[in-house]
Amino acid sequence: MGEENQKVTVFWYSQTGNSFACVERACNVLSKNNYNVTACSILSPTDESYQSDLFLFVFPVYAFYVPVPVRDFIDNMPIQPVNKKALAIITCSGAPANTSFVAGRLLSEKNIDLVNHLVIRSRTSYIPLAKWFAWVNQKTKPDEKSLARVESFIGKNMVGGVRERTLFFNPLSLFHWIGVSGKRNGPKGALGKRTFIKEDCTNCNFCVVMCPSGAITNVEEIKYNDELCIGCCGCINICPTNAWRISSAGPEYYNKGINVKKMVAATGRLKE
Ligand SMILES: Cc1cc2nc3c(=O)[nH]c(=O)nc-3n(C[C@H](O)[C@H](O)[C@H](O)COP(=O)(O)O)c2cc1C
Repeated sequence: MGEENQKVTVFWYSQTGNSFACVERACNVLSKNNYNVTACSILSPTDESYQSDLFLFVFPVYAFYVPVPVRDFIDNMPIQPVNKKALAIITCSGAPANTSFVAGRLLSEKNIDLVNHLVIRSRTSYIPLAKWFAWVNQKTKPDEKSLARVESFIGKNMVGGVRERTLFFNPLSLFHWIGVSGKRNGPKGALGKRTFIKEDCTNCNFCVVMCPSGAITNVEEIKYNDELCIGCCGCINICPTNAWRISSAGPEYYNKGINVKKMVAATGRLKE
């Protein structure tokens, strides 16, 4: 059993639901064990969410690196007055590189120790991968086995005290350096031009909610600013009617993920 009413905030980011499925599982285990747990989308954080005793970060690997929105979120976090601990659950399609190490370094600047992490291989939402390597797409969602690993990780590492593990940095990892070189741009170039097909849009606003860079707005109509776009593919993956497209791959490769509606609602950013 966890320490009575210890406060945990789960900071999450997810484009197609894999990380979100992990968040749901993790929260279940924590609340069953008497933790006072709050799940907080990094797109809409509250001041209160920083007050917790312990943090859990859940996010995907993105261009071999910590996703730009997660990096921006950590950059903007207040420095913690007392040293705090965090754990991370990282979803990927197979190439995590040094993502946990980089996240640990970023967090240390905020006085937070990333003491342990779990990497799980999940459904791929990496469009070029899905197109060129069909086999990586065979595992179609975070299956029960992966989610059971999440539960066991939480059970072993959060319930009843935090277990520490040294984070690994491999300077020889090619993936790490590829990630470093493409740091702010992600795979935007490789994916080609984004287009928006107005006639297919149902004005559900999901793309606006999930766009982490503010590139998509909907004041009177949907507008897109290419300068701000970080190439995350969130709009393409989340749009229920494929109104968002890219030139390099057809809609048959877009990943609609799981629980998209629930996930968008959980950000707290959806207008009624
Ligand atoms: C733009 C983009 C870049 C990605 N880059 C990587 C990568 O470098 N390595 C990897 O293993 N997976 C990569 N992925 C796959 C995601 O990490 C994986 O599908 C993850 O489970 C998605 O989580 P989500 O459903 O929570 O968004 C990438 C996905 C996208 C959309």
